[in-house]
Amino acid sequence: MHVFEDFNSTREYSVKARNSGRWVGLVPTMGFLHDGHKSLIQKARQETDPLVVSIFVNPAQFGKGEDYHVYPRDIERDIRVLKDLAVDVLFLPTVLAMYPDEYSTFVEVERLSDVLCGAFRPGHFRGVATVVLKLFNVVLPHKAYFGLKDVQQLVVVRKMVNDLNLPVEIVGVPTVRAFDGLALSSRNAYLTPDERKDAARIYQALSKAKALIEAGERDASDIKEMIQEYIAQAPGFSVEYVSICSFQNLQELSSITGEVVIAVAARLGKARLIDNIIVG
Ligand code: PAJ
Repeated sequence: MHVFEDFNSTREYSVKARNSGRWVGLVPTMGFLHDGHKSLIQKARQETDPLVVSIFVNPAQFGKGEDYHVYPRDIERDIRVLKDLAVDVLFLPTVLAMYPDEYSTFVEVERLSDVLCGAFRPGHFRGVATVVLKLFNVVLPHKAYFGLKDVQQLVVVRKMVNDLNLPVEIVGVPTVRAFDGLALSSRNAYLTPDERKDAARIYQALSKAKALIEAGERDASDIKEMIQEYIAQAPGFSVEYVSICSFQNLQELSSITGEVVIAVAARLGKARLIDNIIVG
């Protein structure tokens, strides 16, 4: 596996592959890899060659007072994981190379960035869209892979690609969960053993909601209330939002028809947990 820190080596490698008719894949990550990341990498491995994985904890997508400085990192272990998965290139840019002094250009995906998590993390999706476009411009992938776990991120990136006519196909990959349903996340490392047990409530509540909808319930506010109450039964939880919205444009729905996303964000101890399921 090549490990490239600089942009030129990465881009030259990719250009060579493209010129010989190969399909370049990219899986962007912030590292501290778990089975959720692995599932993206495995899917990309099947569909593209060469496969580039990036690891970059992107300061631009963390707000003031968020966990940028304590975000879990273990690059040695990540390198072993990526080698085992037969990744061709690890792209590992430095913060200074990505954002040199006086860096001043950002991508704003309007509307989609202000709802759900965007309402609680102002500037977050501006940071995500910016870094993803920068990664695309260096790695030049034909296909890039994103997890449905971060459904708003996927929708924002798809919209950016569409609006800016980027020649990249965006592939969404289903959420990988622990034995009790908790969506895998690097941030689960912040949970104490007791909190970790309670954390499964989010997926339990989402599954109950899905069952209610399948049994004919159509009123979004009744379902949201049920989810909120079920999660809040564990005293450490504080629910930030429960949303039932359209998968296409994240618009809040009052009655359930078609393909809808049920999304939750909640704080538990030091962790901010998000999860969602798509119904219909
Ligand atoms: P990170 O949180 O490291 O996630 C990298 C990719 O893995 C994202 O596409 C995310 O949706 C996906 N992922 C995380 N947990 C998953 C799970 N349990 N199942 C399936 N996929 C999962 O998301 C980011 O990094 C950053 O915002 C990034 C896109 C790299 C831009 O900085």
